[in-house]
Amino acid sequence: MIITPKVRGFICLTAHPKGCEQNVVNQINYVKSKGPIEGPKRVLVLGASTGFGLASRITSAFGANAATIGVFFEKPAAEGKPGSPGWYNTAAFEKEAQKAGLYAKSINGDAFSDEIKRTTLDLIKADLGQIDLVIYSLASPRRVHPKTGVIHNSVLKPIGQPFSNKTVDFHTGNVSEVTITPASDEDIANTVAVMGGEDWEMWIDALKAENLLAPGATTVAYSYIGPSLTEAVYRKGTIGRAKDHLEATAFTISDKLKDLNGKAYVSVNKALVTQASSAIPVIPLYISLLYKVMKAKGLHEGTIEQIQRLFQERLYTGGEVAVDEKGRIRVDDWEMRDDVQAEVAALWEKASTESLPEIGDLQGYRTDFFNLFGFEVPGVNYDEDVNELVEVPGLV
Ligand code: NAD
Ligand code: NA
Repeated sequence: MIITPKVRGFICLTAHPKGCEQNVVNQINYVKSKGPIEGPKRVLVLGASTGFGLASRITSAFGANAATIGVFFEKPAAEGKPGSPGWYNTAAFEKEAQKAGLYAKSINGDAFSDEIKRTTLDLIKADLGQIDLVIYSLASPRRVHPKTGVIHNSVLKPIGQPFSNKTVDFHTGNVSEVTITPASDEDIANTVAVMGGEDWEMWIDALKAENLLAPGATTVAYSYIGPSLTEAVYRKGTIGRAKDHLEATAFTISDKLKDLNGKAYVSVNKALVTQASSAIPVIPLYISLLYKVMKAKGLHEGTIEQIQRLFQERLYTGGEVAVDEKGRIRVDDWEMRDDVQAEVAALWEKASTESLPEIGDLQGYRTDFFNLFGFEVPGVNYDEDVNELVEVPGLV
């Protein structure tokens, strides 16, 4: 079929298999161009199909030659109905891994559930024995709690008082004022239940209980901080409470890994266009200004550049892992540079529907958004009839 984008707000209902494949190949080539990483040999990636998790899987496999198991929640392709981008990304990843002689298996299902944890543990036991690195990169709007059965829905709201600021509809370029009502206590608790550290700890507990973590095992989860501009809706909002919890959980997990000489880290990453971040009000305007400033300074990175740098220059340098005063790895260092933030703050004051095309990188935002779904990828012929029914070779 001929597949075109069907956009509904900040989601696209279709995905292009060839475009997704090209994105994955480009990421693999980038990692290879940066040379080998003396890193982990057996890696489990939770949230492995898109965004930072996919980049982590690609860096592990094609940078460190690691065997990878990826867990994700994606929609398979069906006759006349394209699968989700993460489905096609994984199909492409598995194909390239096979070609390179790398072990790669994938599990599609709810990582929050006991059932998917069981399937994953059994696969590790059967095929890899133990794991050296666990990447925790889930981003989800909901979680069915495996012990209580309660459905938790996360929200993106300020805490305490309403928050008003500028936002942009990145499709039309229309800049307007948005007011977000504050969260209730229940909203906060639900968001922490979905995006906090409880599930990360459950995974590590389950792996450790069955002796599936290798000596010196490392685990990394991803967080975000960002500037004061977005603080009310991000770091001091409901999602920020979840990130506080996630960051605190790193210490709890590190204590549990002491006997293995293992360690848990949180890596604070840069703001990027992903399916998760497009849904947050105010953030798309911030990102379009940030992209403009960082590109002009030659500092711009995508998910693959971020994660390749995390592995090569933070986690696997052969020396100590550099962390901030709160124990966090920082690869948002370039985003948070004083000169970058001062320029973004000045542009923010001026941002309007009229000025944004010139002062912001709205085009870069849009292109990245369409790229997430395999559209507007250079070198792909979108007039070509493609087979939407793509299989994931290593699907368990
Ligand atoms: P993403 O939406 O691209 O990826 C989410 C992944 O989680 C996908 O692989 C998806 O299939 C998987 N997933 C979702 N629900 C699942 C479930 N129930 N079971 C199994 N898999 C499930 O998101 P992302 O932006 O890469 O986010 C990953 C992490 O990075 C999050 O913790 C996010 O907060 C953090 N982060 C994001 C940014 C950003 O700007 N995007 C910046 C810093 C940190
Ligand atoms: Na991810």
